[in-house]
Amino acid sequence: MGAPSHYPVRLVLFGAPGVGKGTQASALMGRFGVPHISTGDMLRAAIREGTPQGQQARDIVERGELVPDVLISEMIGERLRCEDVGTGFILDGFPRTVGQAEYLDRTLEGQGRRLDAVINLAVPEAVIAERLTGRRVCEACGTSFHLALRPPRLAGQCDVCGSELKQRADDSLYVIQGRLGVYARQTAPVLAYYGTRGVLREVDGVGTVEQVSERIEAVVARLSR
Ligand code: AP5
Repeated sequence: MGAPSHYPVRLVLFGAPGVGKGTQASALMGRFGVPHISTGDMLRAAIREGTPQGQQARDIVERGELVPDVLISEMIGERLRCEDVGTGFILDGFPRTVGQAEYLDRTLEGQGRRLDAVINLAVPEAVIAERLTGRRVCEACGTSFHLALRPPRLAGQCDVCGSELKQRADDSLYVIQGRLGVYARQTAPVLAYYGTRGVLREVDGVGTVEQVSERIEAVVARLSR
């Protein structure tokens, strides 16, 4: 695939928990030269640091429910005012409600910007459950692994920084089922919102990480014609 500098770069990676939003955003941020903005990572950092927002979010995140729109919109609004998003961004995990999608549109409009595409990654639930129960994450640098599908070179240790790998508190099978229910009830309606705005693109999220990245790049390349 050719140099991506001309691509539109204001993307939302959308989909149920475990479809690979974070993995793909990490893989593609270098390709597109834009930051990866994950509201899940921002919340987990706030929880670790014990900020007022983190304290408010901790129990909600561990239960796999959504934190209030006002809290997350405040966090993302501040992030979208940072200088490094001038060239664009890949959003992962936001928006997750129609209210958040409306907030994002208003914020970008206020900056004279708009979304280029919302990429919906489609993955069957059985594959999602396998991906999430086997996920292990480096708390130090955030790199994500999978016990069987993307194992680290040394068991339990991050390939990138050598820190210990952990299982996320919300990656138990019980909480995963709850998160999928939350997705169906509160987040899936966002697809219709973007469908009417002409920015929604469907991408098959099953396959190797590289295969899925290539599909996303192909979609983005077509947007710029
Ligand atoms: P968040 O961290 O956003 O969780 P999520 O949306 O549930 O998504 P995940 O991180 O679980 O999955 P992913 O799609 O990124 O998959 P990944 O790439 O890691 O949010 C956590 C919580 O924070 C929420 O439940 C909520 O409480 C709160 N929150 C966050 N944003 C919010 C918002 N906007 N509003 C309100 N509350 C909010 O991949 C999963 C696994 O599969 C990994 O092990 C990976 O290595 C593996 N994998 C990925 N792709 C492939 C592939 N192609 N082949 C093989 N393995 C793969």
